[in-house]
Amino acid sequence: CRVEYLNYEVLDDRGWDLDDEDLMETAADGGLDREDYGQFWVRPRESLLEAAERHGFAWPFACRGGACANCAIIVLEGDMRTRVDHVLPQEMLDQGFQLSCNGMPVTDELQVVYNVKSMPELEDLLL
Ligand code: FES
Repeated sequence: CRVEYLNYEVLDDRGWDLDDEDLMETAADGGLDREDYGQFWVRPRESLLEAAERHGFAWPFACRGGACANCAIIVLEGDMRTRVDHVLPQEMLDQGFQLSCNGMPVTDELQVVYNVKSMPELEDLLL
């Protein structure tokens, strides 16, 4: 699966909108570091966090076991399956939140915003 990613901190700093349909195009043209925006491939049976780390990126995490939400991301396009999730309520899943520590893509393409742990929605869930 090919993953296109964007750092939430950049989005927040620049005042970009998560609901903007052209968000990833805007990011692609934004002259961002590879750390903040880019693409990588996820291998079969590899979690998104593991794939990010294999490419040399330090995405946030803590427990790696579906219990803390530090690794949360938002899926804009595509779909993921998360094996263990003890933390995200259904309404957040409905909004596209997933856990990167054990979430695996189930579509060929995925667009995600990572590092969303500073969003107010996550404040009460972080351990
Ligand atoms: Fe704790 Fe993913 S790192 S839920």
